[in-house]
Amino acid sequence: MLVATQTAEEVAREAASRIAKVLRETLKKSGKASLALSGGETPRATYAQLAREEGIAWSAVDVLFVDDRAVSPDHPRSNYRMIKESLIDPVRIPADRVHRMKGDAPDLEKAAREYEEIVKARSPIDVMVLGVGDDGHTASMFPGEPTIDISDRKVAMVPAKGDREARITLTAPVIVETRAVFILAVGGKKTDALDRIWSVSGKKKDTPARVIREIRGSITWIIDKAAGGIG
Ligand code: 6PG
Repeated sequence: MLVATQTAEEVAREAASRIAKVLRETLKKSGKASLALSGGETPRATYAQLAREEGIAWSAVDVLFVDDRAVSPDHPRSNYRMIKESLIDPVRIPADRVHRMKGDAPDLEKAAREYEEIVKARSPIDVMVLGVGDDGHTASMFPGEPTIDISDRKVAMVPAKGDREARITLTAPVIVETRAVFILAVGGKKTDALDRIWSVSGKKKDTPARVIREIRGSITWIIDKAAGGIG
């Protein structure tokens, strides 16, 4: 489903209310829910809005991370820090429900393997929020890199490249089996990447976010006019 809004604020409102609805339904049915969250700039407003939604039993929600950078948890570029500030702290999710990717661990490969056990115990994930990079990446699967081809691991370490620090990321097999995925895109810089994802032809190697096309659960795109190339 495609939800096309006028503004970034509307993306946040629409996304929050739709994510909240799925969480409430999952909690009602299963008594618990798992929620995997992306970082970057776009979702911050959505998480802040989600924190204001009512009727979500947050103490029964396991929060997982889609990816994080090899930085300390209080670093400005830490996805954990952004998500803690915008959602985890405001709704007071118990610490044992928050599963941080240890980007500050001395051995990132080991940290990725440990995270894999956490993901396995909670698979398939109920709800996931993804973003789209201007270059067509999603999670931390970047164009031209081998991460998108990983089929036998649920979590991978992504080596540093240029200015980009190393990362830990969920892999394609986890994304495609998730029950409900929400993809957020805001601003004109996303238009080219969206075009490449939605195009009939194209390679995942060049545009890793094309993996979204393979998701077996429900897919909800929430984009603003500018990202859609009409604003
Ligand atoms: C990250 C992400 C990443 C993000 C895209 C879009 O940590 O960078 O989780 O996959 O979703 O890069 O980022 P923006 O919202 O900042 O454009």
